Amino acid sequence: MLKKLVLAAGLTLGLVSGGLISGGLVSSARAAGDAAPLPNQTWGFHGVFGTYDRAAAQRGFQVYKEVCAACHSLSLVSYRNLRDLGFSEEEVKAIAAAYKVTDGPNDVGEMFERPARPSDRIVKPYPNEKASRAANNGAYPPDLSLMNKARVGGPDYTYALLVGYEKPPADVQLLDGQYYNKYFPGMKIAMPQPLNEGQVTFADGTPATIANMSRDVTVFMNWAAEPELEKRHRLGVQVILFLIVATGFFYAAKRRVWADIH
Ligand code: HEC
Repeated sequence: MLKKLVLAAGLTLGLVSGGLISGGLVSSARAAGDAAPLPNQTWGFHGVFGTYDRAAAQRGFQVYKEVCAACHSLSLVSYRNLRDLGFSEEEVKAIAAAYKVTDGPNDVGEMFERPARPSDRIVKPYPNEKASRAANNGAYPPDLSLMNKARVGGPDYTYALLVGYEKPPADVQLLDGQYYNKYFPGMKIAMPQPLNEGQVTFADGTPATIANMSRDVTVFMNWAAEPELEKRHRLGVQVILFLIVATGFFYAAKRRVWADIH
């Protein structure tokens, strides 16, 4: 009898504490993911016929180069890949030549610096992760090459993050080096607001508003993450066209084969 009572008590205790723990986990997970819902954007590269707006992507590269590249690498992109965005060979050479890369060893075994060439990867701001953390209050600015694919929401998230800086509500405590961004999971981000009105000057006269710069750099980052997207879309359309033609052909053949049978 006593044994049964102890067993029942133990079971109840176990159930209750289990419930508490799992309840606690659920609510803390919700707290960490309490970021505002992402507004849906329309992007020219979405949909079956989607392509990258070259002018926007070139402006986006300028934003990356003049602002984001101070902290973020883009290690999967080479200068020559920029030809895809409509830059000429000469322009790409000039863009690359403005950067220095370490090469070598030379004949006497020493490393040396030379201007970057189109075949070089885009030069990163810090030699390694430790150096970038040391310069950023311990936080690591992640590589942006695949960022648009790595986060839930993709380009909508990148755009929202860039325009999502706000004054923190009164009940939110920020530590040194933390900033309030309503779209970042947990809402406390270690990246200071990177874009401010008029931060860059676009050659084509596009006003450098925070929204415009954020949109353009998001288009550019999407191209970096998915440069093969247009090819994929083209192939998809070709396959559908082929299937339509093949269906017509097979239908005609079937009618012919069965024509004599009544
Ligand atoms: C002063 C340095 C600095 C600059 C300039 C900067 N960032 Fe960041 N960025 C950071 C740091 C540090 C983090 C890591 C933040 C964290 O984990 O809290 C970060 C994180 C990010 C993230 C990832 C957020 C996530 O979900 O993990 C994206 C996307 C991003 N930055 C985009 C950009 C873009 C686009 C620009 C240029 C418009 C830019 N950043 C300019 C320092 C910078």
